[in-house]
Amino acid sequence: MTAEGAAGLIASGSTVGMSGFTGSGYPKAVPMALAARMEAERAAGNSFRLRVWTGASTGPELDGALARADGIEFRLPYNSDPIAREKINRGEMEYFDMHLSQVAPMAWQGFLGPLDTALIEVTGIRPDGALIPSSSVGNNKTWLDRASQVIVEVNRWQNPALEGMHDIYYGTALPPHRVPIPLVRADDRIGEIYLRCDLDKVVAIVETDAPDRNLPFAAPDEAARCIAGHLMEFFHHEVARKRLPPSLLPLQSGVGNIANAVLSGLIDSRFENMTAYTEVIQDGMLDLLTSGKLRIASATAFSLSPDAAASLNANLDRFRNKMILRPQEISNHPELIRRLGCIAMNGLIEADIYGNVNSTHVMGSRIQNGIGGSGDFARNGYVSIFMTPSTAKGGKISAIVPQVSHVDHINQDVQVIVTEQGLADLRGLSPKQRAKVIIENCAHPDYRPALADYFRRAKQGSYGQQTPSLPGEALSWHQRFMDTGSMRS
Ligand code: COA
Repeated sequence: MTAEGAAGLIASGSTVGMSGFTGSGYPKAVPMALAARMEAERAAGNSFRLRVWTGASTGPELDGALARADGIEFRLPYNSDPIAREKINRGEMEYFDMHLSQVAPMAWQGFLGPLDTALIEVTGIRPDGALIPSSSVGNNKTWLDRASQVIVEVNRWQNPALEGMHDIYYGTALPPHRVPIPLVRADDRIGEIYLRCDLDKVVAIVETDAPDRNLPFAAPDEAARCIAGHLMEFFHHEVARKRLPPSLLPLQSGVGNIANAVLSGLIDSRFENMTAYTEVIQDGMLDLLTSGKLRIASATAFSLSPDAAASLNANLDRFRNKMILRPQEISNHPELIRRLGCIAMNGLIEADIYGNVNSTHVMGSRIQNGIGGSGDFARNGYVSIFMTPSTAKGGKISAIVPQVSHVDHINQDVQVIVTEQGLADLRGLSPKQRAKVIIENCAHPDYRPALADYFRRAKQGSYGQQTPSLPGEALSWHQRFMDTGSMRS
């Protein structure tokens, strides 16, 4: 069927569960046709809006096009599209930002309401109707199971050699019938290589030939290289103390410049035979696999630059036995992250002197992306690391503040904070001890005196002495920068 024909099968006001995770494996043709239909309806004075669920972020042909057409009424569980972000922050789109491991269970529990359509990109369809997943798995299994009708996009751009790289586990159940998930190593295969699909529910199959989003990565800057250096030193120290094995523990790495720099740092390290149990395979992971230092990478999606995607596509056979793509309820499962003992490494917007972390909201109210998988890994990892440059906006704002303006990760879930200035190991420290090391090791020298002054005055004027604070003053840190007009520049 044409994409326009398939888009015509989706009703206004309905809920569509789409494939897609960090810009890979999302449907491309039908969302564009939906956007065109939304624009046409709007021109005719009608409204055509949808509730959109996905794995995580997608690409401009999905979130961007639908948001531009003012066609997303409600969105979950993650967004990083700039047009959708503006709509959310202007109050024109409802957004339920949630832990990525919880999406599938919540859909099954019925907490998210009914799912009308599953719109899923695949690499191919087997003669028996089983679907060959594409470059991300995300929540596809759940959307196919839960939706009343199914639309499949078969994308010829996706490499046929992806067949066999996935591991789709069908053993999850709701309480009281839940049983342990039988995965004890990052490279265990516990499921099937195809997605099951009830053929009676398929209302359309659309063929496409369009690439994934694949944004280029910026080369690591000086701050990213320093952060990577501090982390390498930390890992060596932990191995020397026998708190980590010589091959470390399964790595989880967020995406972006700093995460990539850390992965590059690992290539030059003496750690061998490493594994990754993570959410996405980005450029740095591919380089680590190529170098032979990383034995296996388990994830739910690729998140590659165009060059890395081209290189992977050209050499996929070489990587076949070194990569496994799983549903996100398994890649991010708290039980598995705790069992494997993942080393969680994620970015942040700001951290406070007590170690609470804000990953999502600028000034406490403006959403940047969402919590994504950071909470799944931070709470359950063997060690939970957060990394950031010590300042943002060209040095105009400190990433270390007296009190975060929004809390995503409570201090109990934050064990190590690293900036280009240094590393604060917070394990076993009381709040006042944490404040001292965070200010001394992580804050930028320009902001250290003001933070130390705040901490000193808080200890004098605070209601209690466990976590000394001056609540009225804490937020004035943000206000001060708001007043300079620099926040949005
Ligand atoms: N105050 C105000 N703005 C800040 C800020 C601060 N303390 N820190 C960052 N920002 C702004 C940046 O200036 C930038 O704004 P711009 O887009 O207008 O230029 C924006 O926030 C993003 O910052 P950047 O430095 O480019 O971030 P990043 O790519 O390193 O990502 C997070 C940092 C926190 C946004 C990102 O890691 C994230 O979304 N995390 C949550 C999800 C997650 O961890 N996923 C991985 C789990 S597997």
